[in-house]
Amino acid sequence: MAKAAKKTVRGRPAPKLAKVGPGELLTLVDFVRYAVSRFVEAELAFAHGTTDPVAEAAFLVSEALHLNPGQFEIFANARVTAAEGKTVLDLIHRRVTTRKPAAYLVNKIYMRGLPFYVDERVIVPRSFIGELLESHFGGGEAGSLIDDPTAVERVLDLCTGSGCLAILAAHHFPNAAVDAVDISKGALEVATRNVGEYGLKDRISLYRGDLFAPLGDARYDLIITNPPYVDAEGMAALPPECRAEPKLAFDGGADGLDVVRRILAEAPDHLTPDGGLICEIGRGRDLVDEAFPELPLLWLDTEDSEGEVFWIAAADLA
Ligand SMILES: C[S@@+](CC[C@H](N)C(=O)[O-])C[C@H]1O[C@@H](n2cnc3c(N)ncnc32)[C@H](O)[C@@H]1O
Repeated sequence: MAKAAKKTVRGRPAPKLAKVGPGELLTLVDFVRYAVSRFVEAELAFAHGTTDPVAEAAFLVSEALHLNPGQFEIFANARVTAAEGKTVLDLIHRRVTTRKPAAYLVNKIYMRGLPFYVDERVIVPRSFIGELLESHFGGGEAGSLIDDPTAVERVLDLCTGSGCLAILAAHHFPNAAVDAVDISKGALEVATRNVGEYGLKDRISLYRGDLFAPLGDARYDLIITNPPYVDAEGMAALPPECRAEPKLAFDGGADGLDVVRRILAEAPDHLTPDGGLICEIGRGRDLVDEAFPELPLLWLDTEDSEGEVFWIAAADLA
């Protein structure tokens, strides 16, 4: 008789998880400790809203219990009921056995403190551009790249995915009409849901198409984009968590710059004279500087990144 096939996670045997006896885990912090031990044991990757096993466990336990992860400490020593404990353990076990990002398991991620719906149709949002809008585009303070956020009339979010950056931009530039484009039908369905949940249907227009193609000759004061930029080597080395996300969201061709090159070539036709482009490119800064030596790119840093996003004014692109 043929042997039953072993359960695998993308080719690797699924880890076995020790049974938890009744009453062995009582408080939220007990469940977090248990989760951290399992996550470390299973060598999970953390790159989807959290960067370490403790933050990931606190996120998952909080979300399972419908608590805001930002308020975890208030409830850390509170008891979890038996039924809740079952739900929490199930999520911890699914995180380990499926290697899916926690955000997919709870259909939620926070960006700049705001919740967004996510599922496997979109990459889990983690762009640095959300933070940069606040730190470099606030107006007023020295070094701000835009004098007055209230004067921004038109913003484009290219490669919008879940619509998270379009929504943050709509909040940040209160008088702007925002267009957002993605080539993926599934991504636009998720973006439509998020735009609706934030009541922004009258300010954000979603388009399906290849980069600027669906926009005609529209021009924008600001273009923001977090395009696919992973090179072939990076694609081959993606951890299982990232392989659960749409390939289209990562794949930037052989050197990672296929889409970035097209954006830089076409952006001048879609920027107003005083406008500019913010583009995230990950760790490929040297390659971009080498590929575009004539462009005075301004590299912007965030709390957790150095030189992964550039700004260029329309006047310097033309
Ligand atoms: C890195 S994700 C960014 C999503 C979102 N802006 C964020 O920061 O979370 C890139 C997105 O670009 C989309 N995309 C890829 N190629 C595209 C193209 N040629 N035109 C428009 N969108 C594209 C993918 O479907 C994906 O949603």
